[in-house]
Amino acid sequence: MHWEFRDDITRAMNTSQDKYDLIIRGGEVYDGTGGDPFKADVGITGDRITAVGDLSAVIADDEINVSGMAVSPGFIDVHSHDDFHVLSSPDVEHNTLQGITTVVVGNCGFGAAPYDTAAGRLGELFALPPEIEPWDGYAGYLATIDQFKPSLNVAALVGHNTLRLDAMGDNQEVPPSIDQVTHMAGWVAEGMDAGAVGFSTGLIYEPGRYSTTDEIAAVATVAGGYRGVYTSHIRNEAEGLLQAVEEALIVGEMSGCSVQISHHKASGGDNWGGIERSIEMIEAARERGMDVTADQYPYTSGSTRLAAVLQNRALTDGSGGIGRVQAEDVLVATCTERPEYEGHSLASFVEEWDLPAEDAAQRIVDEGGDHVYAVIFMMDEGDVRRVMAHPTTMIGTDGIPAGSRPHPRAWGTYPRILGKYVREEGVVSLPDAIHKMSGMPADKFQLTGRGYVREDAFADLVVFDPDTVIDRATYEEPKTPPTGMPHVIVNGAFVVRDALHTHARAGRALRRGQE
Ligand code: CU
Ligand code: ZN
Repeated sequence: MHWEFRDDITRAMNTSQDKYDLIIRGGEVYDGTGGDPFKADVGITGDRITAVGDLSAVIADDEINVSGMAVSPGFIDVHSHDDFHVLSSPDVEHNTLQGITTVVVGNCGFGAAPYDTAAGRLGELFALPPEIEPWDGYAGYLATIDQFKPSLNVAALVGHNTLRLDAMGDNQEVPPSIDQVTHMAGWVAEGMDAGAVGFSTGLIYEPGRYSTTDEIAAVATVAGGYRGVYTSHIRNEAEGLLQAVEEALIVGEMSGCSVQISHHKASGGDNWGGIERSIEMIEAARERGMDVTADQYPYTSGSTRLAAVLQNRALTDGSGGIGRVQAEDVLVATCTERPEYEGHSLASFVEEWDLPAEDAAQRIVDEGGDHVYAVIFMMDEGDVRRVMAHPTTMIGTDGIPAGSRPHPRAWGTYPRILGKYVREEGVVSLPDAIHKMSGMPADKFQLTGRGYVREDAFADLVVFDPDTVIDRATYEEPKTPPTGMPHVIVNGAFVVRDALHTHARAGRALRRGQE
């Protein structure tokens, strides 16, 4: 291999200490900016990167030779639902084995606090170990992360659905009273004071679907005061996509939040191609000076609660937020009371029970308990590529690793982009793809000191082979780790070494704008 050091990074050699805890030698460094890669050794002391350059004359307590491999910042999953899972399964293997070193939890309106309301949803899917006590607000949640230490870092969004349930109980199909809005706003303030990165909504879900733009903007304004992000699973990803993007932009303008369109897509065959217009809207808003971006998982199928598919009339007239889908497009992913239903297409139940699709789905929801999730084939491959290639898109998994057949995105998102979409199809360049996975989300969510390979940054790193990296998680066997990604380092510690999880619990809570 031919070695050529850049002058500016070679300086590190002369100024650095002569001993490091770890040196990653000989890799091709992609620094997270989107710029060209360069050959360099990376020296790590404690939890920080302390040198990037030629360290051939220096020694370290531990070293790995990674010539021929890419060294990149650890991936930041901006769309996670692992609020409870990082505590129930602290190795968080589905994430760490695919290079994720930080998750942003609390998406789609479902947050980690207040505890009792939050636990009603995620706590049942991901039961917490007995040593973890119910936490008090977001301050308590982030303190619990710091105390219990999962294998990766956790940043949190405050979730609107959780707050609305807490404020309004069973009476959801009405506007909130002033007191109820104040109650929600109070929790946003508590969360943002504690270091939350923003506020999220899920407007196809209970109970967010009953909220008006004014209600959302009123509550989001508290987050805007802290310069937080407003992330939204928008009200409609189908026929009403453009109005729903417009609503998110209005909330951004009214609240002072920057805006993140969650899992940007056009859902349902009648609406494919609509993504062109929503991308144009994002571009136009950016030209007006708004900070608007989006995230994406790299699949033509989505995954959500089967109850939400029914509520959005996706199996009948398709007039709701998901668009129209057929029974054969729907796979039962997670069905806690009837695990034997998992992995089967809704079409097979339609046939077996001789019922219309919506009645068969309703029966599965009725029998399946509170947590029935489905995989739904609803997107166009061309749209997926268009969104991925666009510079305003970053990456998130939207993974929910519960049941026997969850969506493979929970295991495969990052290696799938690096293998299928970068190497095999050239949809996006490798430096750009890494930027969408690291520096770009770190800047957007104010994760200070993360997202880049440079001196003084935190040592969150991934080593992978650009020639072989690929996802192996399929719809049949989703819980399959990728290949070609041997090392993952969090805060200076190997969490994955030689493709094996070390069980190191190196993660911490990340607070907005703080190191
Ligand atoms: Cu989500
Ligand atoms: Zn969502």
